Amino acid sequence: MTPTTTAPPAIQLQEVCFGWEADNTVLDSCSLEVPSGEFWMLLGTNGSGKSTLLKLLVGLLSPRSGSIHLLPPVGFVFQNPDHQLVMPTVGADVAFGLVEENLSPIQTRQRVEEALDAVNLLHLQRRPIYALSGGQKQRVAIAGAIARNCRVLLLDEPTALLDPDSQLDLVAQVQQLVKRQGITALWVTHRLDELNYCDGAFLLEQGIVVDRGDPQRLKQRMMATP
Ligand SMILES: Nc1ncnc2c1ncn2[C@@H]1O[C@H](COP(=O)(O)OP(=O)(O)OP(=O)(O)O)[C@@H](O)[C@H]1O
Ligand SMILES: [Mg+2]
Repeated sequence: MTPTTTAPPAIQLQEVCFGWEADNTVLDSCSLEVPSGEFWMLLGTNGSGKSTLLKLLVGLLSPRSGSIHLLPPVGFVFQNPDHQLVMPTVGADVAFGLVEENLSPIQTRQRVEEALDAVNLLHLQRRPIYALSGGQKQRVAIAGAIARNCRVLLLDEPTALLDPDSQLDLVAQVQQLVKRQGITALWVTHRLDELNYCDGAFLLEQGIVVDRGDPQRLKQRMMATP
């Protein structure tokens, strides 16, 4: 674990309840906090509410009750990068996220190149998106968030489509990026070997955070569960 800081948490969810319909509850009084500058993971079985929680954090859904605070700007990386990359080439896709900021062409080029450099993809700036591997697409999506200077990065199973080698490459790279750029990240995963890279983890069961803290302890707990 990294030393705790006195800064307020960059991601904070307090007593949040949510259901898709009036008579159903997906998240039940859910609370979690990710300290500023730390890399935490969210674990849980299929249907436990992980993606719903991320959608609430990013504002795609509104809670029935409770409160949510995040340090803006917030970047979001989907499980399937094909749902997120919209432009024909790598550089154009990262630049697309900057349109709202009305930057000059030089400023845009600089931000795009810095972000692609941060994920080791600068050499692929002109490459068409269709000619990328799954892991490279995920890194383009992450570069999009970095280019917007996001303070908080939310990632929903970004390694689900990757082979084991690319999976561990991506998690190691995000860990380094988070530490280097002072970003706070919450990463959803099923894969216990990814826990070796984070500062802490939450375990979600049927919409309730049932455990939190040291990733190695949670890993042991999950491995002991039949
Ligand atoms: N758009 C939707 N409309 C209605 N119910 C939904 C919708 N999306 C998810 N649900 C339900 O909400 C519950 C939580 O789903 P969620 O997608 O958050 O789980 P998850 O933990 O992300 O699962 P997985 O590991 O499979 O991605 C499930 O019972 C699911 O069927
Ligand atoms: Mg999910």
